[in-house]
Amino acid sequence: MSDFTWAAKANDIPPGEGRVCEVNGVAIALFNVDGTFHALDNTCIHRGGPLGDGFCTDGTVTCPWHGWEYSMATGECESMPGQSVDTYEVRVDGEDIHVKL
Ligand code: FES
Repeated sequence: MSDFTWAAKANDIPPGEGRVCEVNGVAIALFNVDGTFHALDNTCIHRGGPLGDGFCTDGTVTCPWHGWEYSMATGECESMPGQSVDTYEVRVDGEDIHVKL
């Protein structure tokens, strides 16, 4: 079981945006939803698009490659019900965001 690992500075991810972060060699999509941070596996289950580079709106991120949609809170693929990407626990300590893989 791994501990929390630093992933990003909170002020580097404005509300309504996401970023791709590498944590212990794993690509993580980190999102700021109205001040609440969520972390998902960065790899879209369709063909591997980078979800952290996707378009964010109303709690949903849209994959930049072909438009599949995911809940940023649960990782559930709204375009393919019953499938999802992994989610990771997030801890915010001041300006520092940590993720637990
Ligand atoms: S790779 Fe994400 S929708 Fe195709």
